[in-house]
Amino acid sequence: MIAVVTGARGLLGSEFMIAFGTRQAALGWSSGTHEGYRQVDVRSADQIARALDDDQPDVVIHCAADPNIVSCEEDPVAARELNALAVEKLAFATSARNIRLVQMSTDYVFAGDSADGYTETDEVNPLQVYGRTKAEAERYCLEAGNSLVVRVPLLFGISHVIPKATFPEDVAKSLSAGKEVHADEVETRQPTFTPDVTEVVYRLVEGGITGVVHVAPSETTTKYGWADQIAEVLELNPAYVRPTSPKPGSNRPLRSVLRTQRLSELGFQPPRGYKESTPAFLRAVGLI
Ligand SMILES: NC(=O)c1ccc[n+]([C@@H]2O[C@H](COP(=O)([O-])OP(=O)(O)OC[C@H]3O[C@@H](n4cnc5c(N)ncnc54)[C@H](OP(=O)(O)O)[C@@H]3O)[C@@H](O)[C@H]2O)c1
Repeated sequence: MIAVVTGARGLLGSEFMIAFGTRQAALGWSSGTHEGYRQVDVRSADQIARALDDDQPDVVIHCAADPNIVSCEEDPVAARELNALAVEKLAFATSARNIRLVQMSTDYVFAGDSADGYTETDEVNPLQVYGRTKAEAERYCLEAGNSLVVRVPLLFGISHVIPKATFPEDVAKSLSAGKEVHADEVETRQPTFTPDVTEVVYRLVEGGITGVVHVAPSETTTKYGWADQIAEVLELNPAYVRPTSPKPGSNRPLRSVLRTQRLSELGFQPPRGYKESTPAFLRAVGLI
């Protein structure tokens, strides 16, 4: 199986390059000129078509996106072009060539107002530009047929190519330096370690699974609870972790919980919860 990974130099894409590259073949696409990556602007139908014809993959794992809520809000047209319309072009090009498309999506397609969390069949209802563009992208991907939409929650991990610290690394470094950490104590999240996501997605692709699948742990917390756990694991003073609340007018989901009904029906283990995976991550980056 040959996999093309878009956004291959990003946080999740660089982890997919390892997950697929160590077992099969992974070809990375990037918007820039970088040795070892094919330069493809995923907003260009022509560039997509040429690259697919050259690479001849069996599957495209689509990670290229603007996942930044603020920049999407600032420029909704650009956000839609990259997060949604590029997926329409990719879906058209892949289905015409009988290539499977895997669209990486997000819990932000939901409003976060359900006490029970969300299953794969719940109606999407995004609160902000980012969520709306990702929900639109899901539709294009699913219309392609033989395709897979994977919704994942808040991620952390090692950005293997472009240095980018995620929340636990920032918290660990600040607390170790005796600096205060301000963390939200209201918004419920399911922090998930990126290699745990890529492992499950690899198996879903191998198993030929289609449709929408949530890949998330059952454990939930707030960023405040998570920072507190990091302080405990590192035996640092938790008094430096200060609770905050969402700013008025915040358009983020309050209770973002993806339920993994489909994963259980398919017989797959969900990713590890943050209590187990955060120490594993801190060890991997040499902070323990
Ligand atoms: N991070 C999270 O917590 C999270 C949570 C839920 C879902 N997701 C989803 O997971 C996916 C990956 O997110 P991430 O956090 O890994 O993002 P990321 O680190 O910001 O990586 C995104 C990549 O997109 C590429 N890109 C941007 N514009 C492009 C263009 N015009 N053409 C080609 N490539 C372009 C960039 O690659 P170049 O460097 O080559 O420009 C960048 O490395 C996204 O779909 C996101 O919505 C992320």
